[in-house]
Amino acid sequence: MPITAIQADITSLNVDAIVNAANTSLLGGGGVDGAIHRAAGPELLAACKQLNGCTTGDAKLTEGFKLPASYVIHTVGPVWQGGDQGEAALLASCYWRSLTLAASVSARSVAFPSISTGVYGYPIHQAAEIAVTTVNATLEDDSAVESVTFCCFSAADLAVYQACLNQLAR
Ligand code: APR
Repeated sequence: MPITAIQADITSLNVDAIVNAANTSLLGGGGVDGAIHRAAGPELLAACKQLNGCTTGDAKLTEGFKLPASYVIHTVGPVWQGGDQGEAALLASCYWRSLTLAASVSARSVAFPSISTGVYGYPIHQAAEIAVTTVNATLEDDSAVESVTFCCFSAADLAVYQACLNQLAR
């Protein structure tokens, strides 16, 4: 199954690339951003400082350093502002851009956190729907990426992603 959902700490996953839910500075933060920087070590921040930030909806790549993953793809999700500020398109862009970058370095397995659904306040059901449909559409477009894992941090989030994936399978 090319697209699955699990509950885990994304920093523990032995995949080719993990995606970081970063902010536009790319200089670290809390949540999954903080966890990834802690696990990767200080070289990750040094590498990020060379990237000159990242705009919302875009993604930039670094090595994984001390992480099991070879690469970290840093993407910046939209802050939820009620849904009429183009949030859906920006969130979809995070998933599409991340997969495009992964394919560009021949990363075959990619793991995503639930982008924007923590500090940035994006409602989980809407965000999961966008994540699943965007990833599925991108993989169907003959992407070099072979497997995508939605790495949920809570059982509640996992149930939402699983329901979206079940819808897809119908
Ligand atoms: N592994 C997997 N998922 C995690 C982990 C982890 N180790 N830690 C947190 N998460 C989950 C959260 O529970 C949430 O479901 O990642 C999801 C995204 O939440 P945030 O990390 O808060 O990211 P986001 O909502 O996109 O906000 C980004 O938060 O940490 C700052 O620097 C970051 O400013 C940026 C903002």
